[in-house]
Amino acid sequence: MQAIVLAAGKGTRMRSEKPKVLHEIFGRPMLDYVFEVLGQVGVRRPVLVVGAGADQVVRFAGKHAIPVLQAQQKGTGHAVMMTRRAVASSRGDVLIWPGDMPLVKVETLRTFIRAHRKEGCAVSVLSAVREDSAGYGRILRAGGAFCGIREELDASEAERRISEVNTGIYLFQSRFLFSSLKSIRPENQKGEYYLTDTIEILSRRGEKLEAFPLASAEEGQGVNSREDLAMATSKINQRMIRVLQASGVTFMAPEQTFVAPGARIGQDTVIYPWCYIETGVKIGKGCQIGPFAKIRKGSVIGEGSIVGSFVEVNRSRLGRDVSAKHLAYLGDAVIGDETNIGAGTITANFDGNKKHLTRIGRRVLVGSDTVFVAPVSVGDGARTGAGSVVTSGTRVRRGEVVVGVPARPIVKKQTRKQK
Ligand code: UD1
Ligand code: CA
Repeated sequence: MQAIVLAAGKGTRMRSEKPKVLHEIFGRPMLDYVFEVLGQVGVRRPVLVVGAGADQVVRFAGKHAIPVLQAQQKGTGHAVMMTRRAVASSRGDVLIWPGDMPLVKVETLRTFIRAHRKEGCAVSVLSAVREDSAGYGRILRAGGAFCGIREELDASEAERRISEVNTGIYLFQSRFLFSSLKSIRPENQKGEYYLTDTIEILSRRGEKLEAFPLASAEEGQGVNSREDLAMATSKINQRMIRVLQASGVTFMAPEQTFVAPGARIGQDTVIYPWCYIETGVKIGKGCQIGPFAKIRKGSVIGEGSIVGSFVEVNRSRLGRDVSAKHLAYLGDAVIGDETNIGAGTITANFDGNKKHLTRIGRRVLVGSDTVFVAPVSVGDGARTGAGSVVTSGTRVRRGEVVVGVPARPIVKKQTRKQK
């Protein structure tokens, strides 16, 4: 199967200098969500129609897609015409997907593909039944049979009342796509070449068409404005949290918690309100996270650990039963089991040029307000005094106690004599 992703439009309603499809949901361009689902149904490199902000879109998507330029945006039908060379050779089905539709799930797409093939349609459209259909193209049916799509600006009063709308996702048998595109004309309110006009053309020719309504209309929401973008972020967050709840994670305030797709959280972990957990993060069983914790990419939190209020963890590994209860920044750190990180601990991991590692062993007691100027390492069972600054290159030995600025070992007199 081939796919065409439409992403040449300006996205005027976003009011942005950035092309719409590059606006991010949990740090990933919405276009990437579309690519992910396409990848899951076996589409490796979709054809991507670019226009407005083409350079930026290609810079992001060039590797994942075959870009085709639509220099002037003369409508969705015109956009697809531009892909003729890139697609026409393929015999099978062509999936068309607007780049601003990041919420459709892979299972939904699979069901749609199956239905299209089972019915042997020339074209199938994924539709949605919405309470508020404003702004969408309406699905026209004659005696129940799908026969056209009417854009809102061109619709009659009666047509505007139709609640079944076009999501903009289609499956065409390739030969019907390009043959019907030849016949579309820009004779409508916008003066554009509408892809949606191919439906009426194929219907008149007596081809088999179907519109399959989505089981859940929310997936059919497109992102056209900042408000829609926030809605999409919230939906994706909700989906993540529901899956985690079902697997045994407590969220005290799901609406006030953000968990990016791809994060993993173990059973019986409790997430307090106002946390932000990025993609790829792995949190073990029975942990306590937050309130107000930020756990960033590449972090692993071991079983039974506590990452408390105003703690940021970034690209760090915490062992089991580590406790960092308050006010800390742990970046590029590796922390052993049962270590206690005092309030106000900071790993100064960036020297202005490079990031450096802080290694802290097991059962270490880090005093409040310690600064680790990385690279440093701290042996098992060591301690740092409150307010100490462990300077770059230091290796605190096993069981050693260091204090002060710069931090130096405390050596008991007795011990010295014995030596
Ligand atoms: C389109 C559909 C409408 C459907 C809605 C669903 C048409 C005529 N209308 O309307 O029936 O309900 O999507 O979201 O197709 N694009 C290009 N080149 C162009 C114009 C658009 O690549 O010349 C791209 C846009 O970047 C966007 C997609 O096509 O990703 C849809 O365009 P948009 O202008 O958002 O169409 P709608 O008005 O939403
Ligand atoms: Ca749209």
